[in-house]
Amino acid sequence: MKALVLSGGKGTRLRPLTYTMAKQLVPVANQPILGYVMNHLKDAGIKETGVIVAPETQEEVREYLGNGEKWGLSLEYIVQEKPLGLAHAVKTAREFLADDDFVMYLGDNLLGSGIKDAVAKFDRKKTDCMIFLKEVSDPRAFGVAELDENGNIVRLVEKPKNPPSNLALVGVYIFSPAIHEAIDTIKPSWRGELEITDAIQALIDSGKNVTGEILDSWWLDTGKKDDFLAANTTVLDEYTVRRINGVVDEDSTIEGRVQVEKGARIINSTIRGPVVVGEGVVIENSFIGPFSSIGPGSKIKDSVIEHVVILDDATVEGIVRLEDSLVGRNASVTKSKRLRGALRLMIGDHSRVEI
Ligand code: G1P
Repeated sequence: MKALVLSGGKGTRLRPLTYTMAKQLVPVANQPILGYVMNHLKDAGIKETGVIVAPETQEEVREYLGNGEKWGLSLEYIVQEKPLGLAHAVKTAREFLADDDFVMYLGDNLLGSGIKDAVAKFDRKKTDCMIFLKEVSDPRAFGVAELDENGNIVRLVEKPKNPPSNLALVGVYIFSPAIHEAIDTIKPSWRGELEITDAIQALIDSGKNVTGEILDSWWLDTGKKDDFLAANTTVLDEYTVRRINGVVDEDSTIEGRVQVEKGARIINSTIRGPVVVGEGVVIENSFIGPFSSIGPGSKIKDSVIEHVVILDDATVEGIVRLEDSLVGRNASVTKSKRLRGALRLMIGDHSRVEI
C-alpha cells in the first residue's frame, strides 16, 4: 500500500494566512496539519508516499517534510502544475503509483481515528475503492453520498445544490489501481476540475466494488476560518497533555492540561488548559483561557485571551479580551497609547476585523 498526500491547491478560503503559507502547513495546536497526516501514515505502516505539491508552495512543504525520515517514510515529491482537481492529481502521480493500492489523503483534512484500521479493513476486504462518510449539517460544500436501504452507495455528487443526504465524503480514500481507468473516462466538472467524486461514480457505474464506511471519530476540514478554530479546539481537547518545559515564575498559575515548550517564560499570568505555548513565547501579566494555541516566538502582555490561535512571532499587548480569533505570523494586536478611543489599523488583504 502506497500513499498519495495532496498538498497543492491555493487555499483561497483560508486567506489571508494562505497568502504566505501553504494551507496544509497552517498549524493546528502548534503542529502543521501535514504533520498529523504524516503521523497517521506512519501509524498505518505505510512507507512509500508521494506528495503532490503546487509550484507556488512546494518549497516550504519540502522544507517541512524533508525526505520523510522523521516519520519513517520515503517521500517522493510530484509537482501538479495547476490545481485541476483531485483526480488530475492522481493522474499526475500515475508513474509513482504504478499498479499498487494506495491511500489518498487530502493534506488539509484531519481524522480523529487516523487510518490504521481503515487500511487493515481495505486489505481484508479487497474492494476497488473504500470511501469514508460523515454526517455534516451543511453538505453542500462537499461530495455527498446517496445510500440505499442496505447502506450500499448508489450515487455520489460533488457539491450538490440539493444534497441527497447529509453524508459528506471525507478527504481520505483508498483505491485499487482500477481508479486509473475510471479517471480516464471522466470530463472536467463545472468548476473546471477532474473530480475524484466523478471517478468513483464511474467505478460504481462500471460495476466495481465501492464500499463506504461511516466514520465514528471526528473529522475536520480545516479549509475555512471557523472550521480552523474548531479544528484547533478539537485537537487541543484530544491531544494536549500537561508538560511544562519552560519557566513559570512563582506569581503564575498553570491550571489543567497546558503544554509550555522550552524557552517559554510565563510571568505573573494564569493559563487555563487546554492550551499549548510554543518555544520562546513570553506571556506576561495576562490570562490565557482554554482552547488557545500560542505559536513559537510570540509575546502576550497585559491581555486576556481565550479560544484564540496565535501563529509564530506575533504580539498581543494591552488587549482586554480577545476571543474566537486567529492572529497570523508576525502580526501585532496592541492597544494604542496615544489616540484615546481611536483605532489604528494596518490590515492585509482579505483580513477581517470585528469591533
Ligand atoms: C474535496 C472533494 C470533496 C470532499 C472534500 C473533503 O473538496 O472534492 O468531495 O468532500 O474534499 O474535504 P474540495 O476541498 O476540493 O472543495
